[in-house]
Amino acid sequence: MDIAEVLTLADELIFAKTGKHLDYVQEAILRGTLQDTTYTQIAQEVYSSPSHVRNVGSKLWKILSKELGKNITKANFRTVLVENSKIYNYQSAIVGENVTVGENVTVNHNFNVCREKVRSPKTPQNPEPTAKQPRIDLGDAPEISTFFDRTSELSTLKQWILENRTRLISILGLSGIGKSAIALQLIQHIQYEFDCIIWRSLRDAPPLASLQTDLIQFLSQQQETELPDLINYLRSYRCLIILDDVQTIFSSQQLAGNYKQGYENYGTFFKQIAESCHKSCIVLLSWKKPREIAALESHPKNCQTLQLNSLGEPAREIFTEKGLAESEKWSELIDIYRGNPLWLNIVADAIQDLFSGKISEFLSYDSLVLGDLEYLLHQHFQRLSESEKQVMSWLANQIKAVEISQKPALLELSPSEFLKAVESLRRRSLIEKVQKGDRALFAVQRAIAEYVKTNIK
Ligand SMILES: Nc1ncnc2c1ncn2[C@@H]1O[C@H](COP(=O)(O)OP(=O)(O)O)[C@@H](O)[C@H]1O
Ligand SMILES: [Mg+2]
Repeated sequence: MDIAEVLTLADELIFAKTGKHLDYVQEAILRGTLQDTTYTQIAQEVYSSPSHVRNVGSKLWKILSKELGKNITKANFRTVLVENSKIYNYQSAIVGENVTVGENVTVNHNFNVCREKVRSPKTPQNPEPTAKQPRIDLGDAPEISTFFDRTSELSTLKQWILENRTRLISILGLSGIGKSAIALQLIQHIQYEFDCIIWRSLRDAPPLASLQTDLIQFLSQQQETELPDLINYLRSYRCLIILDDVQTIFSSQQLAGNYKQGYENYGTFFKQIAESCHKSCIVLLSWKKPREIAALESHPKNCQTLQLNSLGEPAREIFTEKGLAESEKWSELIDIYRGNPLWLNIVADAIQDLFSGKISEFLSYDSLVLGDLEYLLHQHFQRLSESEKQVMSWLANQIKAVEISQKPALLELSPSEFLKAVESLRRRSLIEKVQKGDRALFAVQRAIAEYVKTNIK
């Protein structure tokens, strides 16, 4: 029995119990266990922390123990699953309807196991024999130590890239929401579908020509004669190009999505990537949407946008890792900070440091925006136009979500300026839409509202 077969079996057992297939970390743990690697090594492989991987592992062993009717641990998993002759029975009987795998477990093969989706060991150390090895240059991609959930976002991205073959994808959201993290995770999942993978940050605002030269330099390494243009490489090879920090090429103090002077040609470039015929995919990570994108989105193969929102309840794992007390208050904290993993990390550290992990003591202070978080928000707010600042101030002072069907009388803006500012703030993910029946209401989230009240007059 090889590793892929063990993973297939484990996937089916987990699916039978939880209704979900093995996720990436669970799979890495099983594979690592079979290859005698430690939790720390597995954690490195999946860009996660050893404690998180250990945690996932312990839950996994519990499920498998229950399903197989044997006490399974990392130490005995191999013996029980691989060397246990019952598994061979299972294997040989896999075409049957119901198969006994443990002492008291019957796996019903009528459930929906996607055989082609049962993942085989695809690590750089242990590549799938038939899978091609992509050439990868992650450049200055950040190192991400932990990664929780984002299962549905990852499957949406995979569907767009692998099934729909979408050529241009934007992942949007405030800083810290996890754009770089999810893109790195995505690479782990889909790397073997590509010939080349390259990550570049636009943090230092490279002119388009130098970015293209840099990309061509990498892509041409496997080519004897140089091709005339980047698009020719995107046609010849299946490339995945991640462009991070795209917001840097947009101008400050103007409505969202306007390019800095000298960077307008990026707009034409993005349009060309979306509309020309080629087999590659470019993923943009940005605080806000490039102007062209809205028009290009009408065709899903050309262009798709994923708005990254709160991490939601899985963000509780962050507090578990940080050892915060008062778990009954964790959801409130996630809500206050919009489930932004970076903000939650900052706040959890502060609560641990200043209040010995007691959230209620921190909340009684009524000061939600601490130093580092204030600095992060400052980066966003210094880019706003005057009209956007006015609208933010007005919204931050509303007690409830409000309608925008009429311009508020106290704002010294024309109705058109008001609407453009609201639209632009939405693009920057700074205001939220709350749907109440057929009414659209708008609001500013609590921590942002507090920042605005203190910092924007
Ligand atoms: N799904 C996640 N689970 C756990 N931590 C996360 C997750 N997403 C992001 N983080 C953490 O939050 C921080 C910010 O994430 P990052 O991807 O750099 O945000 P962005 O690129 O949107 O600014 C990083 O330290 C990262 O480890
Ligand atoms: Mg980032």
